[in-house]
Amino acid sequence: MKLLSGNSNKPLSKNIAKYLKSKLVNSSIKKFSDGEIYIEINENIRGNSIFIIQSVSTPANDNLMELLLCIDALKRSSAKNITAVIPYFGYARQDRKVVPRTSISAKLVSNLITKAGADRIVTVDLHAGQIQGFFDIPVDNLFATPIFARHIKKKIKYKNLICVAPDVGGTERARALGKILNSELAIVDKRRAKPGQSEVMNIIGNVKEKICVIVDDIIDSGGTIVNAAQALKERGAKEVYVYITHGVLTGDAVKKIKNSSIKNLVITDTIDNSEKIKGAKNIEILSVSSLMGEAINRISNSTSVSDLFK
Ligand code: R5P
Repeated sequence: MKLLSGNSNKPLSKNIAKYLKSKLVNSSIKKFSDGEIYIEINENIRGNSIFIIQSVSTPANDNLMELLLCIDALKRSSAKNITAVIPYFGYARQDRKVVPRTSISAKLVSNLITKAGADRIVTVDLHAGQIQGFFDIPVDNLFATPIFARHIKKKIKYKNLICVAPDVGGTERARALGKILNSELAIVDKRRAKPGQSEVMNIIGNVKEKICVIVDDIIDSGGTIVNAAQALKERGAKEVYVYITHGVLTGDAVKKIKNSSIKNLVITDTIDNSEKIKGAKNIEILSVSSLMGEAINRISNSTSVSDLFK
């Protein structure tokens, strides 16, 4: 078994390699002056099982193309099998036609990855579990929830705590966290007039005097979370903590979080944000490297991955 890293998140790849007591495959990933990507694997990988680690994060199109070209290079170098380890699976939010005459990018990207030559996918908190069905190869969707639950138990006085889904789509995720923490559930009724703009219509559940823990898969512009936190405070919530797997954090999201009523935002390192959050005292990063490393270990040894979440 060997690990190859794309350029999207080298620190995470290195930490996964460290967990597995392994080295990253020697490779060169460069760009021509017109922006085309060039990949060369600098060591023999014939007959090896290769795990290529690459998030489809900003710049999403470059990182996706890099992933596809890496898979192609591995296939042409006679790797025995190729697992695409995609900590953040971008393009997943367009998973159906919400309005007529739009594309379903999650399906197209799934087709591209399979067609390039991947034999298996490993990812973390897919935007919608059903995207697994867009692939005709095995998909291991790992969950950050147990990492969050451990952090909450350690850091927050979690008596009188309520888990909050920031929109109806996040109910299952919030319920799963609530089950581990033995807490109640509230749901924010969010409406989106257009992409990038969200509005809180109502809150289902009683949050008065409660410690609220919002859990979601993605924080992008920050609008959803900041509005939800504000609405919870207006309805009497004592404190608002936020746990989000993928910190997409575009535009002035970090500034919005810094100036918001959010006590603490926890994200994971599926996307490399170490530079972006510098100076933001209420943003913290937890690592998924051990979780991903252990999943890779179990896949290599043909043992259960789902046992990780029991
Ligand atoms: C939506 O369904 C996702 O789970 C997130 O809530 C959304 O992508 C967050 O976007 P933003 O931070 O731009 O409001």
